[in-house]
Amino acid sequence: MGRPLMPTPQPLPEPTLRPTPAARHTSAAPPTSAAPPTSAAEGPLVDRFDRVHRDLRISLTDRCSLRCTYCMPEQGVPWLAKTTMLSTEELLRLAGVAVSLGITEVRLTGGEPLLRRDIVDVVAGIAAMEGVEGPIEVSMTTNALGLDKAAQALADAGLTRVNISLDTLRPETFRQMARRDRLDDTLVGIRAAAEAGLTPVKLNTVLLRDVNDHEAPALLAFALEHGYELRFIEQMPLDAGHTWHRESMITGEEILAWLRTAYELSPVPQRGSAPAERFFVDGGPATVGVIASVTSPFCGTCDRVRLTADGQLRNCLFAAGESDLRTPMRDGASDEELAQMFRMSIGAKLPGHGINEPGFLQPPRPMSAIGG
Ligand code: 5AD
Ligand code: SF4
Repeated sequence: MGRPLMPTPQPLPEPTLRPTPAARHTSAAPPTSAAPPTSAAEGPLVDRFDRVHRDLRISLTDRCSLRCTYCMPEQGVPWLAKTTMLSTEELLRLAGVAVSLGITEVRLTGGEPLLRRDIVDVVAGIAAMEGVEGPIEVSMTTNALGLDKAAQALADAGLTRVNISLDTLRPETFRQMARRDRLDDTLVGIRAAAEAGLTPVKLNTVLLRDVNDHEAPALLAFALEHGYELRFIEQMPLDAGHTWHRESMITGEEILAWLRTAYELSPVPQRGSAPAERFFVDGGPATVGVIASVTSPFCGTCDRVRLTADGQLRNCLFAAGESDLRTPMRDGASDEELAQMFRMSIGAKLPGHGINEPGFLQPPRPMSAIGG
């Protein structure tokens, strides 16, 4: 740990592609195993397009307490087998390897991460790790169910902030979208997060046409009133039920149009590597974000890598292939060998997600088993 982070140029067996708009949308991703071994033996996780990877998303479980229509079918999905799920120790070991490779930020996701019984230990274990820029920043994406009971313990363990899904303020629409009658519990969880200091509390909203799209201004009013940061996420083709259709998706442009029926929005300069395009609301300082992954991809500045609950490393949400870390780890691989697998995976990362290509294929794993 604590290695100096010089982006080492990597030898390439094929011409270097710059993440130009044209290169960003190559055809559907081949399995990562088919990619050339381009990894450097030392240094941080830099890919062939000079993207330095700092952000690790760990899905702690694929299970969830809700059944959002854009994520899971009513009956759920075939869950990962218990024996394949990483233990607390295994998770922390892989997180440690990632930190030694320059990861500075870890986001815990799911499914629903609060369903993991060891959640406080996982947070404490990662928050105690020292990265190249100091302690690792640990955050969580959650649906907030049960957060009222867990928020303070999580904050005490070192969790810094939360991203909470909130798609509607209407109980009936919540029932329709999440297939559970839990709006009040969600709102209680959101409040508990703020009270425990897990701030800024960010709210994520997915708009579905003729379901909750008209609620965009009301959701923003709610966020402004409570001091939460609201971000709208374009629906992505990642759901197990394959309900995504380009034609019915609410685009970033439409989201802005809905918001402009009630608010004046002006772009915040400096997007950096953050996926959300932010806008001052009525002159600021409050902002609202739009994550237009489909219509305005931000792959060129992506610094994320993902670890699934069963120990598979994914270099993109939309990657067709993944690298199995669990099997070699359980077979006795050393930290350096595991680090090499991280580098190989990042070395094989494609320039973009390819959603807008004719040959795009949805990844076999649903979002709930990858982590957002
Ligand atoms: N498209 C866009 N966002 C999604 N999420 C879950 N599934 C999808 C999808 N298909 C969101 C959740 C959560 C975040 C992690 O991702 O609402 O807020
Ligand atoms: Fe659960 Fe999140 Fe999927 Fe909704 S979107 S079912 S809260 S994992």
